[in-house]
Amino acid sequence: MLFSLAQKFLFQMDAEQAHMMTIKAMKSGLSPCISASHAKELKQDLWGRNFPNPVGLAAGFDKNAEVIKPMFNLGFGFVEVGTVTPKPQIGNDKPRVFRDVKHKAVINRMGFPNEGVTVFKQNLSNFLAQKPRPAGVLGVNIGMNKEQTEPEKDYTLLIRTIGSLADYFTINISSPNTPGLRNLQDPEFLAPLLAAVIAERDKVCGDYPIPLLLKLAPDLTDVQMAGIAGVLLNHKIDGVILTNTTLFRPDDLPAEFREQKGGLSGAPLNDISTGVIRRFYAITKGSIPIIGVGGISSGHDAYAKIRAGATLVQLYSALIFEGPNLIRKINRDLLKYLKADGFAHIREAVGADHQ
Ligand code: FNR
Repeated sequence: MLFSLAQKFLFQMDAEQAHMMTIKAMKSGLSPCISASHAKELKQDLWGRNFPNPVGLAAGFDKNAEVIKPMFNLGFGFVEVGTVTPKPQIGNDKPRVFRDVKHKAVINRMGFPNEGVTVFKQNLSNFLAQKPRPAGVLGVNIGMNKEQTEPEKDYTLLIRTIGSLADYFTINISSPNTPGLRNLQDPEFLAPLLAAVIAERDKVCGDYPIPLLLKLAPDLTDVQMAGIAGVLLNHKIDGVILTNTTLFRPDDLPAEFREQKGGLSGAPLNDISTGVIRRFYAITKGSIPIIGVGGISSGHDAYAKIRAGATLVQLYSALIFEGPNLIRKINRDLLKYLKADGFAHIREAVGADHQ
């Protein structure tokens, strides 16, 4: 009820303004506290981290790590903040975020606006200093500044600066809104980038290396995906996040919306990203843990990604259309789907479609 009132109000506003307003409200304590699922069937240990449930917040919602605690309070099992870049940057010209309420879709071409790593580090430290801290896993998504011509310099600087403050890092090379970023998915560039980031991680973390994940675009051919998978296996990368937003535009989206430049997310991305998860899991024979993201707006969507090969899932766009009760609902429905399929624990469902 409260959410549908707030939603009516927020839908009158420009999408980014509505987002800023939401962050402000959350910072001032105006957000619900929804108890997280602690069902034993949904708890997982991965990379030595304890995930109380498999539903996480995707990167881009909390770019400056300002509302970590309120987001955990919505019941997420893990929260990924960022993308943070070394220097502050303003991003692309506004307007740069567009919603299509009917199709539950978003297009954004933000271009990593954020306050830079100094402010981000302070915000992270403030969160970590809180006692008690909410249960759950904290990921940090890192990217490069727009004008950087030597990407590894930015990614290694970020690991050096905040390497001890997160439970995992995501190397984001898949935003379509930073010129040239997606080219880093090419094995020729990816291999040296990963080698540099891993070397920095090992220097910073010593005997307890922090898990490194890579976030990929959905717009990859099978050949490209196989090339990337080879590099990831070679470098023993800890996990992949599949997927970021897509450049593809389904025909049924209204012309005015679909013609906006940027990455499409929300419901139209759901099947596309599930397909990518399925293909990646098959190529790697399930040997690299996958976080599945893209268009999840129900327990059904989340479960399909898990059966296709995802160990964990994330969402962002559906929060705009469905509201914060969605997280609890997804976890509740996941329990039902597990039971219906005769699985005693979520780990048995991961990749079940491939058996
Ligand atoms: C994003 N996403 C994103 N991803 C990322 O790695 N870094 C970022 O800074 C952002 N920023 C961002 C802004 C906005 C407005 C949106 C809608 C999305 C992508 C996001 O994390 C996710 O991968 C996709 O949105 C697909 O998931 P959903 O939104 O369909 O659940």
